[in-house]
Amino acid sequence: MGSELVGVLGVGYVGLTTAACFASLGHRVVAVDVDQSKVDELGRGVVSIGEPGLDDMVRAGLAAGRLRFTTELRALADAGTVLLCLPTPMGEGGVADLGALSSALGELAPILRPGCVLVTKSTVPVGTAERIPGLLGRTDVPVVSNPEFLREGHAVHDFLHPDRIVLGSADPDARDRVRALYASLDAPVVVTGTASAELAKYASNAFLALRLSYVNVLAELCENLGADVTDVTATMGLDPRIGADFLAPGPGWGGSCLPKDTSALACIAAESGVDFALLRAAVDANAHQRERIVRKVRRAAGGSLAGARIGLLGLAFKAGTDDLRHSPALEIARELARRGAVLTGYDPGVPPSARVDPVHLVDDPVLVAKDAAAIVLLTEWPEFRDLDWAQLAEVADRRAVVDTRNLLDPDQLTGQGFSYTPLGR
Ligand code: UDX
Repeated sequence: MGSELVGVLGVGYVGLTTAACFASLGHRVVAVDVDQSKVDELGRGVVSIGEPGLDDMVRAGLAAGRLRFTTELRALADAGTVLLCLPTPMGEGGVADLGALSSALGELAPILRPGCVLVTKSTVPVGTAERIPGLLGRTDVPVVSNPEFLREGHAVHDFLHPDRIVLGSADPDARDRVRALYASLDAPVVVTGTASAELAKYASNAFLALRLSYVNVLAELCENLGADVTDVTATMGLDPRIGADFLAPGPGWGGSCLPKDTSALACIAAESGVDFALLRAAVDANAHQRERIVRKVRRAAGGSLAGARIGLLGLAFKAGTDDLRHSPALEIARELARRGAVLTGYDPGVPPSARVDPVHLVDDPVLVAKDAAAIVLLTEWPEFRDLDWAQLAEVADRRAVVDTRNLLDPDQLTGQGFSYTPLGR
């Protein structure tokens, strides 16, 4: 296995995971990125992304001579397959910004060897694969859409144990060559056209967002009706048509994918003449969720946020990552600060040296509680359950906790004299 060189363009979290995992499967991989310092670090086996197992895998790939990093695009000249793992951030009006992809294609055009298979791995608007030959100015480079479905914090696991591998192409031979890269993985393969593959990625992420917005509104409804959202979602989840995952209410969905992919899909739909009102409603419900949390915090803090010291537990968009991009926790923090709150925050994944305006970061949860008018749990780090809540109660100004993840034990907190505000109960 692995005689043909696999090229990976872009070593963000998708590209690096892809490169390291393919090397671990026995392929020879060269990964190219414009960022010289990142390439140098990776060449020394230093991985700055907090992704479990990734650093060991990179070091093993380097040691085995199967993985190398370079800034030289020419290194892709020998590749039989090149996977495009470039960022496609949210651009103006919510559409995906394809700037990085277009300029990379311009530079790749004179380099790729005839017959090299170009694979779009990062999320791209529907129709991109079809447009690539035109952008490249070449028809001898077949394109396969092979979207990634990697969750942050589980990326290596998700790559090696995929729920599905999607291969979209008009060229069966190119598709089979990409399929061969995954031959040692046991997963259903969906063979389709490029548009379906590209849409399947957006459709999956947007559906997850819809589902979470539904649950968050349900939580609000539970509060008004005297129901308990945990019992309601447990009941729903036992129906195999619904399933138990992705039913936990929270401060709103965020991260590097769900917000940009919902916006992009709404734009794609509108451009094609479809009004995806359902999707827009999910985005609106997500914004509403943040306002709702701010109201809860204001109430818990005694009715006013002006000058109130608020302690924040968790800032990352979810537990198990240090990623603050589109973090609902940070968006809520900004909203609290806008209303005059003074914020102290602690996140086990984010070093206190990081600058997270408007939050003053500390390295000890007790400092978050110190003189606080309310403590707000925003990210579901399990270790927050085991905090010394008696000590936090001692230093807090008001004993008030808002738990936006329903993570904590209400009895334990009320036992320490805290007022406890969960979601949907
Ligand atoms: C997501 C998709 O899951 C993944 O398949 C895709 O390829 C990339 O985008 P990720 O961004 O890592 O992965 O986050 P995910 O674990 O999906 O969580 C997204 C958001 O939903 C987070 O803000 C999280 O806190 C929230 N969430 C998730 C909930 O509020 N409740 C849940 O039950 C699950």
